[in-house]
This record gives sequence, C-alpha cells and structure tokens, in this order.
Amino acid sequence: MNLTHDDVESPTTAPAKAGTPATEVTDGTAAGVRGTPHVVGRVEEVPPGEGRAFVAGGVQVAVFRLRDGSLHATQAACPHSGGPLADGQTDLDVLVCPLHLYTFRWTDGTSPGGAAPVRQYPVHEESGRLVVTV
Ligand code: FES
Repeated sequence: MNLTHDDVESPTTAPAKAGTPATEVTDGTAAGVRGTPHVVGRVEEVPPGEGRAFVAGGVQVAVFRLRDGSLHATQAACPHSGGPLADGQTDLDVLVCPLHLYTFRWTDGTSPGGAAPVRQYPVHEESGRLVVTV
C-alpha cells in the first residue's frame, strides 16, 4: 500500500470516526497486535526526546520518540487528572506528566507515585510514517 501525506490523519483536526479507520495499514507489520493500525503522521513530527499529540482512529494519543530512537504511544490525557501527556518530559525510563508531575514507567505504564496506570498503544515506524494501533 502506497500512502501519501494526504492519507495521514491531522493531529488536531481529524474527526472522531465511528469504527472506520482513516488509514488502515494492511501489510502485516503489526501482526499479532490487537486493534487497528493507523498512520497518524511522520516520524520527524516528533523530535527526539519529545512527544506530540495525534488522533488514531478517533482516539487521542500521545506519541513519544525517545532519545534512543524508540517510539511509545499513550493515551493523550493523563489518568490522574487529564493533563496533556504529549507535553510531558520523558527519558528512557519514564514519562512525567506536566500538570502534577506524576511519572509513568515505559515498561508497563504504572506510576511509582500511585496514579492509575497510563494506557499504552503499540506504535511503530513504517517508511517514515508513524503507525499507532488502537
Ligand atoms: S494530571 Fe497528570 S499528574 Fe495530574
């Protein structure tokens, strides 16, 4: 499947879709992962060490590119009180919510400080595109 930039969902304007992904990746890259993969943007939209908000199949997500190049995706709103996780600080081990500074482990989404765990989504790069499975 050849996709163009027009196939990418806008991070702020993509409307919620009722069960139909805007872009479905069908090459099997995410085989074995439950859910539907969605192209949400380009890898270069997320600077190393930072996060950005996107919409994947109508779900608000935060995608992070860590300094080691690994990609992570979480729910966009912090499980503590809805803070914007894409604006949080991160290192190779944890994500820090910018609102009340709870941390969440990349390994399993749990919070050492006692907040509810953050939901994580599978994310990978495919020919420079960010693909999040929700
Ligand atoms: S909203 Fe994220 S730590 Fe409070």
